[in-house]
Amino acid sequence: MFVGIDLGTSGLRALLIDSDQRVVASGEATYNTAHPHSGWSEQDPADWRAACVTAFAELRASFPAEVAAIKGIGVSGHMHGATMLDAGGDVLRPCLMWNDTRSADQAARLDSTAKVRDLSGNIVFPGFTAPKVMWVAENEPDIFAKTAKVLLPKDYLNYWLTGVYASDMSDSAGTSWLDVGARDWSDELLAASGMRRDQMPELFEGTQAIGTVREELAAQLGLPSGVVVAAGAGDNAAAACGIGALSDGEGFVSLGTSGVLLTGRDGFAPKPASAVHTFCHAIPGRWYQMGVILAATDSLNWLAKNLQDSPANLAAALGDSIGRPGRMRFLPYLSGERTPHNDADLRGALIGIDIGAGHRELTQAVVEGVSFALRDNLEALKSTGAKLDHVIAIGGGSRSDYWVELIATLLNIPVSLPEAGEFGAALGAARLAICAATDAAPQSIMTQPGLARTIQPRTDLRDAYEAAYVAFQNSYPGIKALQS
Ligand code: XUL
Repeated sequence: MFVGIDLGTSGLRALLIDSDQRVVASGEATYNTAHPHSGWSEQDPADWRAACVTAFAELRASFPAEVAAIKGIGVSGHMHGATMLDAGGDVLRPCLMWNDTRSADQAARLDSTAKVRDLSGNIVFPGFTAPKVMWVAENEPDIFAKTAKVLLPKDYLNYWLTGVYASDMSDSAGTSWLDVGARDWSDELLAASGMRRDQMPELFEGTQAIGTVREELAAQLGLPSGVVVAAGAGDNAAAACGIGALSDGEGFVSLGTSGVLLTGRDGFAPKPASAVHTFCHAIPGRWYQMGVILAATDSLNWLAKNLQDSPANLAAALGDSIGRPGRMRFLPYLSGERTPHNDADLRGALIGIDIGAGHRELTQAVVEGVSFALRDNLEALKSTGAKLDHVIAIGGGSRSDYWVELIATLLNIPVSLPEAGEFGAALGAARLAICAATDAAPQSIMTQPGLARTIQPRTDLRDAYEAAYVAFQNSYPGIKALQS
């Protein structure tokens, strides 16, 4: 038995699978995100530990024998968060999350520092770890002075599980401290943000074991002794492992809180100016590239909250199949944007509201706006030399056939849905656990799942959506100018 834990933005999921990768059970627990000021986003790492205990208790309640037979655990987590620990390993302040944009000034300064983009392979986005720690240094100097280690969220959970300070390449690539081509901490990058190598955890490939679960914790969680813990992965690399996207042209579109269009890469081909993220993969010798939009299902959640309806109801009202594009344009920059605009101050817009527009038209505009933004991401990815001629759809939004067909049409590639439901990053994390505990070759474990069906682009509507996409693109400069 193996467990994949996904430390997600809104909750933690522990997926129990057997050695044939059949899903046995899953346990879940949620936690809150605090937004004490506009643009701030924080979680308490103690809540992650509590959620992990709850999820294991849920698994144990129905499957005690299977839990007692667990051989390995892999953890994936939301990326870029700064979890700052003192010399005793205690948490100094709440974790600053990936969608926390308070450090936009620090990010811009670091981004314009010589060699930073070259070594890290990426723009320093405000959500990344280094600028957030710079913000703490400048605004909470007492906390910064006590900081002995900075861990990414899933690495904190791994530290709690094993007592080992470790990280993997895929998650570390999103800190702006890693030389992403060389797969090592960069002393130059660390110095550029006032950090030292001894404040970093030891680096592993995601498939490597970092240690075993601490004995007293194993007893509490109902685990046998000696359970191996893999180095794990950032959630996007883990999701790529979960759907077998390891190489050039193998990828996914994720419709979660954030939206991601990702492809595996055989080599390191950064192009920071495109605002594409170029990160190490969770398996040795591979990288991946992705465009990230900050509000995908979050845009629909925002609409649902304001219409006092549920996102699922709103999406259901669109039906299963697309018609002609709507006349309203929604720009989904509710929390700023990463790819392609790299602009933390940018905000969204709704253009062309008709007096007859109601819930359905607003929902269509929002779903289209998010999909146009993902098309922007495809163009950005193509500019790096990446090619995608098929993707798998994952994330909550992929439950809407309408949305998937829309994306297939806008990206002009077939989009498939996995057969056995969607286990995303948790399955990828469990697959990393198998590799760490058994030394199996990653390529033999991280295969493409069976596909339930493939939704084709609507060729009859392609020109209409192409014209709507051009209108979406043309809206951006005007909206930007109005907000400057
Ligand atoms: C990726 C990113 C998000 C989080 C979401 O760069 O910030 O996708 O990983 O969990």
